[in-house]
Amino acid sequence: MPVRNIVIAGNWKMHKTQVESLEFLQEFLNHINETPEDREVVLCIPFTALSAFSKNLHGSRVKLGAQNIHWEPSGAYTGEISAMMLNELGVRYVIVGHSERRQYFGETDETVNLRLRAAQDHELTPILCVGETKQQRDAGETEDIIKHQLKHDLIGVDQQNLVVAYEPIWAIGTGDTCDPQEANRVIGIIRQQLSNSNISIQYGGSVKPNNIDVIMAQPEIDGALVGGASLDPSNFGRIVNYK
Ligand code: PGA
Repeated sequence: MPVRNIVIAGNWKMHKTQVESLEFLQEFLNHINETPEDREVVLCIPFTALSAFSKNLHGSRVKLGAQNIHWEPSGAYTGEISAMMLNELGVRYVIVGHSERRQYFGETDETVNLRLRAAQDHELTPILCVGETKQQRDAGETEDIIKHQLKHDLIGVDQQNLVVAYEPIWAIGTGDTCDPQEANRVIGIIRQQLSNSNISIQYGGSVKPNNIDVIMAQPEIDGALVGGASLDPSNFGRIVNYK
């Protein structure tokens, strides 16, 4: 049976200056000396901290991630960042279609699709986020919403170079984690929609040191996308060192 990669990624969102990010890194590196080799450790940090961060990784196993990418190589797109700009800084992963981008910045399945393909064209691994709102869950629409997102987001996308994150929107930043068995069930449904069943599928939404072990014990869950708890080196250290 092929083994799926374990990918644990922090998503700092709009947190930490460059100086703060280096303070984090200095302490965090002490926490990952014993982390099993087969776990990919990723930090998706603000654009402004990428350069300093990459220069201070000192050969560590932390992989750099960004939180967004534009689909054009360059042009009149004020405020956007291209794949080549990320390549130059040593970025390996990029979050695409996070629910905060969809909700606050007008991201659509169409632009998510364009961003995914641009990332792959430049050898970046996109982390595609999908998930339902509370209202959609209560209306019994979870499966339909996720299938719709995957169908549209993945048109023409290479499923050999992709991570998917199941992030129920109601669980993000709320402390209201999705029941691990339910997350496992939905991730199983996501896997059925994919042409490559070896894609790593993460769970995201209020992942903390005190729930990571039970989340990672679920057979379908191949990692985590971690917001708030990735801002603290010892919390994120405990998460990547889950038991
Ligand atoms: P959270 O965020 O861990 O703070 O809930 C997760 C995310 O938005 O990726």
